[in-house]
Amino acid sequence: MKSRIIVTGGLGFIGSHTVVALHEAGFEPIIIDNLSNSRLSALDGIENLIGFRPQFAQIDVNDAFALKQLFEEVKPQAVIHFAAFKAVGESVEKPLMYYRNNVGGLITLLEMMKETGIKDVVFSSSCTVYGEPSEIPVKESTETKPAESPYGATKQMGEVILKDNSSWCNTQCLRYFNPIGAHPSAEIGELPLGVPNNLIPYLTQTVAGIRKSLTVFGSDYDTPDGTCIRDYIHVVDLAEAHVSAVKRLLDQSYADSFEVFNIGTGNGSTVLEVIQGFEKATGLPVPHTIGDRRAGDVVKVWAETTKVENVLGWKAKRNLETMLKDAWNWQKKLSERADN
Ligand code: WQD
Repeated sequence: MKSRIIVTGGLGFIGSHTVVALHEAGFEPIIIDNLSNSRLSALDGIENLIGFRPQFAQIDVNDAFALKQLFEEVKPQAVIHFAAFKAVGESVEKPLMYYRNNVGGLITLLEMMKETGIKDVVFSSSCTVYGEPSEIPVKESTETKPAESPYGATKQMGEVILKDNSSWCNTQCLRYFNPIGAHPSAEIGELPLGVPNNLIPYLTQTVAGIRKSLTVFGSDYDTPDGTCIRDYIHVVDLAEAHVSAVKRLLDQSYADSFEVFNIGTGNGSTVLEVIQGFEKATGLPVPHTIGDRRAGDVVKVWAETTKVENVLGWKAKRNLETMLKDAWNWQKKLSERADN
C-alpha cells in the first residue's frame, strides 16, 4: 500500500512538479486545489508525464468541511501545503485577502488535520523571511527580519503557527529561494496568468515576442555588475527536496518536531548573469533595458546549504544553464499551444 500524501495547491507551479516527484518516489499524491491560480490543464500534463491521473479534488483550504471529508476518506500519511497566494506586489494592495487566504487557510488546514489525526506537514516557506539578510550566504539560523510585504508576513506567521503547534504536529519547513525552470518534458511548468512579476517568465515571454522588452530593475546596487543577486533553483530540484522532507517525516528521523531547511543551490546569480546565461544557453538574444529599482527588492540573497545537505540529505543537481533551457522549452510549448 503506497503512502498517501495530500498536496494542497498541487496544480500550481511547484505543486505540480512535486506531485510528479512524489509519484516517481513511490508515493500516492492526492491533489487539492481551488484553481484560483492554476488550471486543470496542469493535471493533464501530470497524467501525460506519469501515465496516471492522480486523484484531484477542487477544494479551497478555507473549506473546513470539504477538507475534513477528504481527510477521512483518504486517510493520508502527510500533507504538503503549497496552497497560498504568492504575489508580493498584490499582497501590498490586498493585505486582508492574503492574511485570510494564507494564514486563515493554514489554520483551517491544521484544525482539520488535528481533528482527523494527521500530524505530519511540509510547509512552503520562503527566503523572504530573511528580508535583506544580516549575513550572506543565509543559514537557517540567520535572523529573520520584519517582513517587507504582507506576503512575507504570512510566511513568517505560518512558521510561528506551526512552531506553536509542535506538540502535536511535525513540520518540515522549507524556505525556498527562487524557483525557476520547468520539467524537461515541458508537460508541466509555470502557468503565466497575467503580466509576470517574476524575472524568468517575463524574460521568456520577451524572447517569445509576447512582451516588448525586459526591464532590469536597477543596475546601481552594490554587486559585481550592479544588478541584484538571487539563488535560482530548478523547480524539479525543489520538488525533490519535498520528497526528502516527506520521507524524513514518515521515518520520524527528524531531530525536532519543527525543522527548517533552506532550499537553495548555494550559488548567487545577478540579473545580468541570468540574461547572459539565457543567451548562451539558447543562442537567443534577450531584448532588455536598464530601468529604475523596484521597491522592496532585496539586493543579494543566496543560501548556505550545509544543513540541508548534511541533515536532510538533499542537494540541488541542476545548474543555471539547465534551468534556463528548461524554462525556454516550456515557453515554446506554451506558444505552440496558444497557436493551436
Ligand atoms: C528576481 C530578480 C528583480 C522582474 C519573489 C518573491 C519570493 C518568491 C519568488 C514566492 C530581482 C529582477 C524581476 C523583472 C527584473 N515568490 N527582475 N525585471 O523578487 O527575488 O522573489 O519571487 O515564493 O518570495 O519575493 O523574484 O523573479 O520577481 O525577481 O529585473 O521584470 O529579478 O529586481 O532582482 P524575487 P523576481
